[in-house]
Amino acid sequence: MANNEDKFKKIIAHAKEYGFVFQSSEIYDGLSAVYDYGQHGVELKNNIKNHWWKSMVQYHENIVGLDAAIFMHPTVWKASGHVDAFSDPMIDNKDSKKRYRADVLVENYMAKIEQKIQKEIIKAGKRFGESFDKEQYLATNSRVMDYQKKRDDVAKRLYSAMDNEDFPAIKTLIEDLGIADPVSGSKNWTDVRQFNLMFATQMGSLSEDANEVYLRPETAQGIFTNYLNVQKSGRMKIPFGIAQVGKAFRNEIVARQFLFRMKEFEQMEMQYFVRPGEELKWYEYWKEERMKWHLSLGIPAEKYRFHDHEKLAHYANAAADIEFEFPIGFKEIEGIHSRTDFDLAAHQEYSGRKIQYFDPELNQNYIPYVVETSIGLDRTFLAVLSNAFHEETLDDGSQRVLLKLPPFLAPVKAAILPLVKKDGLPEKAREVIDSLKYDYMCFYEEKDAIGRRYRRQDAIGTPYCITVDHQTLKDNTVTIRERDSMEQERIPVDAISEIIKKRLTVN
Ligand code: GAP
Repeated sequence: MANNEDKFKKIIAHAKEYGFVFQSSEIYDGLSAVYDYGQHGVELKNNIKNHWWKSMVQYHENIVGLDAAIFMHPTVWKASGHVDAFSDPMIDNKDSKKRYRADVLVENYMAKIEQKIQKEIIKAGKRFGESFDKEQYLATNSRVMDYQKKRDDVAKRLYSAMDNEDFPAIKTLIEDLGIADPVSGSKNWTDVRQFNLMFATQMGSLSEDANEVYLRPETAQGIFTNYLNVQKSGRMKIPFGIAQVGKAFRNEIVARQFLFRMKEFEQMEMQYFVRPGEELKWYEYWKEERMKWHLSLGIPAEKYRFHDHEKLAHYANAAADIEFEFPIGFKEIEGIHSRTDFDLAAHQEYSGRKIQYFDPELNQNYIPYVVETSIGLDRTFLAVLSNAFHEETLDDGSQRVLLKLPPFLAPVKAAILPLVKKDGLPEKAREVIDSLKYDYMCFYEEKDAIGRRYRRQDAIGTPYCITVDHQTLKDNTVTIRERDSMEQERIPVDAISEIIKKRLTVN
């Protein structure tokens, strides 16, 4: 655990040092849980976003895009349930003055029990070797069964209290389990209270006639309110999807989780409109499709897992998270939700407009059901960055830090480096970059020894360094150095573009 925390700190420091992510308003001591993306961060983020957009919109004939406004009519949030129910049960520690989500404190406690079970399984696997039968072990080992029972009892108490909005019961659970403030170790808790997560502001010039509007807490509602517009103008036939990438805002209390939990973040959401009764088939389909997409980021499968929801929101009839193993543990990166007709029906009721679909095959009107895929762009950025971050000791004993980013996601595809800053090499290198920069994000640098320049490119994940040397002037060839292997080959200048292009393929 200490090692992972250490790695997390290193990644945050690296992200700052190499222009990926900065604390917002840092010169004013920063704004908590708000971050800015720097020169390399914005490229990596755009590459992830474009990959998602292509996978969802370009590669699916029946999914179209949308870019709805952040501000929406206030009634939208009444209809969606956010005004009344988009709140978290919060608890404050009286000694540290820190505020926590009460349910998350209990879930973290449950996760610790699950870790203990996993440890027992690993130990038993080693002990029994080939003959190890995990199912049988889980069903018969008394220690594991005790752990499992304890975990299930806690889950039952938590989810029943949450379902009934019984906040005193959540507090009692925290006290019974002896949960302490992770920062101070104190168990001196306040009562549990509801805390709405939406940011409100005023729209209108005079305060008397100003309307309270909200910064959207999810992009999904812009899709629902445009369902009719898109379906009619695009002559869309069910099943079809609408995809959108955009900012969302939540007044999150938990801080110090870097990009994992922010107050201003970006979502990539897709609502898939289906025939009622077919939603669970599509739910399974999108669960698998979305997991495949995550694997296309070049991240190994063991870093992901599904977490099927035990406690379903009142509007959902199935829900799962895709969890990624961040340095802070396995946590949600994407949600796949079968949302029934809850949202469209609510907007029909509140707006008074008929929001329906005429299904010519069934010769019937109905409100479509919705399967949603909702992924956090910033969390995906953090997943990609954490997976790519490597520290290596080289054969000569020196250290290098590198980002093993898949080339198609790397902020810079090729660095063009004249070996020395004289003898006409910079001029030749400029010629080379001019021939590449319209196709790829390139970077030019002539300062410092070539080895140090290679290291800086490794640290931002540049897959290829092109070095222009004296031989280039004679035979128009350059060396191309590959980031991970550090191997170099000599190739003609004319071949660079094609070689890079071939290696930019998505998994
Ligand atoms: N429309 C459904 C929805 O908004 P959600 O589970 O609340 O569902 C979806 O959010 C995704 O948005 C999450 O899986 C996560 O990746 C991302 N997300 C949510 N809150 C976030 C936050 N405060 N900071 C960064 N990402 C967040």
